[in-house]
Amino acid sequence: MCGIVGFTGKDNALPILLKGLYSLEYRGYDSAGIAAFTKDGLTVVKSRGRIANLEDKIHAEGGITACCGIGHTRWATHGEPSDRNSHPHLGGKGKVAVVHNGIIENYLELRSQLEKHGYVFQSETDTETVAHLVDYLHTGKHEELAMTVLKAIGMLRGSYALGVVSMDDTSEIVAARRDNPLVIGLGDGENMIASDITAIISRTRKYIILDDGEVAIVRPDSVTVMNSFGDIVEKQPQEVNWDLSAAEKGGYEHFMIKEIMEQPQAVSNTIHPRIKDGKVVFEDEGLTDERLANAHHIHIIGCGSALHAGMVGRSIIEKLSRVRCTAWVASEFRYENPIIEPDDLCIVISQSGETADTLAAMRQAKQAGAYTAAIVNVVSSTIAREADGVLYLWAGPEIAVATTKAYSAQLGALYLFAVKLASVRGTITAAQEKTYCDALYAVPKQIEKMLETKGQMQYLATRYANRSSVFYLGRTLDYAAAMEASLKLKEVSYVHSEAYAAGELKHGTISLIEHGTLVVALATQPELYEKTISNIREVASRGAEVILIAGDGFEGDTSCCNYVLHLPKIPPELSASLSIVPLQLLAYYIAVERSCDVDKPRNLAKSVTVE
Ligand code: G6P
Repeated sequence: MCGIVGFTGKDNALPILLKGLYSLEYRGYDSAGIAAFTKDGLTVVKSRGRIANLEDKIHAEGGITACCGIGHTRWATHGEPSDRNSHPHLGGKGKVAVVHNGIIENYLELRSQLEKHGYVFQSETDTETVAHLVDYLHTGKHEELAMTVLKAIGMLRGSYALGVVSMDDTSEIVAARRDNPLVIGLGDGENMIASDITAIISRTRKYIILDDGEVAIVRPDSVTVMNSFGDIVEKQPQEVNWDLSAAEKGGYEHFMIKEIMEQPQAVSNTIHPRIKDGKVVFEDEGLTDERLANAHHIHIIGCGSALHAGMVGRSIIEKLSRVRCTAWVASEFRYENPIIEPDDLCIVISQSGETADTLAAMRQAKQAGAYTAAIVNVVSSTIAREADGVLYLWAGPEIAVATTKAYSAQLGALYLFAVKLASVRGTITAAQEKTYCDALYAVPKQIEKMLETKGQMQYLATRYANRSSVFYLGRTLDYAAAMEASLKLKEVSYVHSEAYAAGELKHGTISLIEHGTLVVALATQPELYEKTISNIREVASRGAEVILIAGDGFEGDTSCCNYVLHLPKIPPELSASLSIVPLQLLAYYIAVERSCDVDKPRNLAKSVTVE
């Protein structure tokens, strides 16, 4: 989703802004632009499509030399992707430029008032309203730009991270935020603003996070932050705790395959520090035994893959602890008026910690009196900061839009939670807890084994890349895992795919099975082996070609399958951590076969910060 970067210092801002924009590419975008103070004034260049197009356009127009500027990658919400709708947007007669991430809900209202004051709009965006509004409030007043921005945001409804510059001070950037991330990078004689750390880390590891309602004045040698009353706020600088190399491809062709291969380490980072002497140990997560013992109903909330991890978690939590547990699509939770009681525990899952629907659902649950515990990867993200307790994944930065290592780490976190809850509630014995912990501890090594299927999946991809439709089948846990496997394929390869509860397919959808349709079946739960194999026979006898991911000890007749992969020995409750790995690889290689833009699939954003 939209990305913001800004730089003010002594060096030429252009390469710094472009580098920042490239590092924000992973968030998903369809156009890009830059505004900078050159010798000719406030120069703006914008282009539809990739940042490379923007770069070409800048060079064709003679380049940009400036010490201060702002840049933006846009993921269209208001108006098609086009040069005109790209950011930055200019206010008034071009004195002010604005970049924005989020949605201004009352923009039509503001737009019509500004039009009455003679403002002419060039784009269909909500953002241009902010640019004209700032210009309107600023023109003729001898006040600091930041004070004007403070007034302007008081008139906005919706969500925003903003970067604003004005010809009044060509070395100053004003930043503001509400419900959208914004960090300020603190350098030596230079400072930056950005949607996330990846855009600043090549210049500085020191940063502060802007909070909702705050406005920052960023100059080369100072950063001042004000709250909504205009009072100065002291902010505690933080240090990035990972290396730049973690956000680079390191010899791999794509981030997605790099991150698939990093899964053993990512999962071990989540699991290993939390297992001690055969027990799950939570220390700073805010999940005390008392809280777990009293949890009445557990609500798991997430979007996309985080939701799928939550679905696997839901199944295991109920199975091990017999505590009622519901997995919610965050955007549905918000409007379903869910029944939340004070002893309810809400587990909020988000890699980025910034997903708008997940954040809003969490706030709602909190307001209703539930205790909120977040499973998050990005340290100090909004969800992490607002949740009552946080279980960090420590999986390292994830760049590919399609999540792999963060999903696997989320599963790890949920297993830990399920085992801990069951142990506290007394539904598993100490010996059983130890068995689960030993098995959990071994998961990263087993994932490593699963990565050895790379060559086989690459071969299967060449064979099946041309299929127009793929179905993923499974029961219970395998159904939840199938949801994620199917999402991976459609996200990166654009092949239509659906996940179905294996027993449900025959109630309508089986009509879509025809000669050569690919079906990927998961059968890792021993008590369901026979049931699932019957469902596989149903599709195979209608011409489907079947890839089967079978649990250890699966002994059914697999003669109707075209390819069978047996998982190594693992407690069936934990199988989803292994079954997903070859299916991530299959999705990846099918996407590569189809020459897709694997790391930045069309229309998708890594961090969805609008509703
Ligand atoms: C987007 C991404 C998905 C991700 C989902 C939730 O849709 O493309 O890969 O699973 O958001 O993101 P989160 O950061 O909240 O886990």
